[in-house]
Amino acid sequence: MPTDLAAAPTLSVQGVMVPAFLYGTAWKEERTSGLVDHALATGFRGIDTANQRKHYAEAGVGAAVQAWLDAGGQRSELFLQSKFTHQAGQDHRLPYDPDAPPAERVAQSFAASLEHLGVEHLDSLLLHGPEHREGLTAADMAFFAVASDLHDAGKIRLLGVSNVTAAQLSEAIRTSRVKPAMVQNRCYARHGWDADVRAVCREHGIVYQGFSLLTANRKTWNHRAVADIARRLSATPAQVLFRFALAQGILPITGTSDPRHMAADLAARALTVTEDDAQVIASIEQ
Ligand SMILES: NC(=O)c1ccc[n+]([C@@H]2O[C@H](COP(=O)([O-])OP(=O)(O)OC[C@H]3O[C@@H](n4cnc5c(N)ncnc54)[C@H](OP(=O)(O)O)[C@@H]3O)[C@@H](O)[C@H]2O)c1
Repeated sequence: MPTDLAAAPTLSVQGVMVPAFLYGTAWKEERTSGLVDHALATGFRGIDTANQRKHYAEAGVGAAVQAWLDAGGQRSELFLQSKFTHQAGQDHRLPYDPDAPPAERVAQSFAASLEHLGVEHLDSLLLHGPEHREGLTAADMAFFAVASDLHDAGKIRLLGVSNVTAAQLSEAIRTSRVKPAMVQNRCYARHGWDADVRAVCREHGIVYQGFSLLTANRKTWNHRAVADIARRLSATPAQVLFRFALAQGILPITGTSDPRHMAADLAARALTVTEDDAQVIASIEQ
């Protein structure tokens, strides 16, 4: 895997092509479909969602995906990622029978994701988060067991885990029959941009997806040094942060609802952030 993810528009992970920038669909409710339309028209080819109605409208993503496919888009050019969410992370709109055993819940949630999205397979399925802050539970293990079977059956191409610590990720790598290929974490500048988890990812060839890169790092986003770099590059501070993330090997997920920001976020790939710039940015919240 290249260190600087801006080097190419896609990267190859376990033989699967993954776009080096994802569009995130949380908190968009009835605007989801229209915004995913815009994202696809702007050039995003990787969409992140979840079967968690509390924060995502997965069926809205599906409506936009179907329209794009109907208009001639190729399924093989689209990277679709969804998540299985334990009951504690859901509201009353559960995508599974809460009385079913854990493995059956994963299978039911996944089947509903395919239905929402109107596709035959997912490119990536993530465990939205382990049940507890430390260690993996039997229900977490059930996710990895079912996801491994889905992988073998060609129903998902990659599997992974979100909101995970370095120790939990190491445990998942040790115990999951099909190894995780994806991690998705909130990426805090003050934690060295999630340095511990990214180190495990690097060691095991796992793609690290960073979310809330802007909103979790407002001090850096609003810092004068970032504004100075942005001015020099005729860019915005948001673009500088996304370009910085790519240079660190972080695959960014943008959560923008503004079509102009969609274009700006993708255009950040073409910026040149020097090693000196990267050091300045990395040191702001250290
Ligand atoms: N796994 C998980 O538990 C989890 C949790 C949270 C999020 N996620 C995923 O990550 C995605 C992104 O999360 P997020 O929304 O927190 O990320 P984010 O991109 O850091 O935050 C979105 C905010 O950034 C602004 N923004 C984006 N591009 C901009 C630009 N070029 N210039 C100025 N402002 C810009 C947006 O404003 P505008 O709308 O005005 O552009 C919006 O207010 C979610 O949609 C979801 O897919 C996953």
